[in-house]
Amino acid sequence: MGEVIAVISGKGGVGKTTAVANLGLGIAFEGKKCALVDFDLGQRNLDMILGLENRVVYDMVHVMDGEASLKQALVKSKVNENLFFLAASQTKDKSVLESSKIKKLIDDLRKEYEFVILDAPAGIEGGFEHTIEFADTAIIVVNPEVSSIRDADRAIGILDSKSQKVKDGLEVKKYLIINRIRPEMVQTGEMLKSSDIFEILNIELLGKIPEDKGIIDASNRGNPIILNNNSLAGEAYKRISARLCGKKVPIVNVESLHGDGIFKKIAGIFK
Ligand SMILES: Nc1ncnc2c1ncn2[C@@H]1O[C@H](COP(=O)(O)OP(=O)(O)OP(=O)(O)O)[C@@H](O)[C@H]1O
Ligand SMILES: [Mg+2]
Repeated sequence: MGEVIAVISGKGGVGKTTAVANLGLGIAFEGKKCALVDFDLGQRNLDMILGLENRVVYDMVHVMDGEASLKQALVKSKVNENLFFLAASQTKDKSVLESSKIKKLIDDLRKEYEFVILDAPAGIEGGFEHTIEFADTAIIVVNPEVSSIRDADRAIGILDSKSQKVKDGLEVKKYLIINRIRPEMVQTGEMLKSSDIFEILNIELLGKIPEDKGIIDASNRGNPIILNNNSLAGEAYKRISARLCGKKVPIVNVESLHGDGIFKKIAGIFK
């Protein structure tokens, strides 16, 4: 049975969808079968970031309503055959989501895939609650700023009170990704340090991702940054994917790295 991971944040725009696309590919490159499900109804960003928007015919609501089978609705990645994607419905009407139908969808997915990753919408309302409902694990994505940490704390509170696992007396595993770290701003104290963030959230660190200008272009082109071998953010996503697959990979303190510096050093070695 596969592991169901909800990627959540509370605050919008911190990098959840970007993380889902990159981790999905990273896990697929680790040789594991992975399905990504877009729970952000009415937005549909994940298909674009994966470069699959033209291939979507059926979405999750078609599957839940029995109008299409999972096999018909899942879209295969163009770059790795282990990765599949299920699109969100275009409707913004959250009432199309019903717990019993979501449970069936997720149970069917976890039979086929080793990892099922759910991309949560912004906020902590209806769509968010459905995303966390049947998750085994949550990845909480934050930016190193107070508003993001505060909203993540609220999201964790809801996770710990409303998910099915907790209702069953079990625990949902929680991991933290700190995204968009700008070393120079951490050093001048303008951005929160990782240690400040742990103190508030107190959950296990899965990885740190630096701010990377290349991410926007990569997303626009439908080629997630993990496919770029010259990107520090791409490398960070590779390490996180390996950790999720059970590999022991040390956490790199991206706060003390300077993009330029490290690539110059690497280039120097091969001169
Ligand atoms: N490490 C990064 N460096 C630079 N830009 C980033 C990084 N991570 C994400 N972004 C950019 O931040 C913006 C928001 O990212 P994304 O859409 O993944 O966030 P989200 O949490 O899914 O948003 P929403 O809550 O609206 O669904 C995008 O323009 C994305 O390209
Ligand atoms: Mg998103």
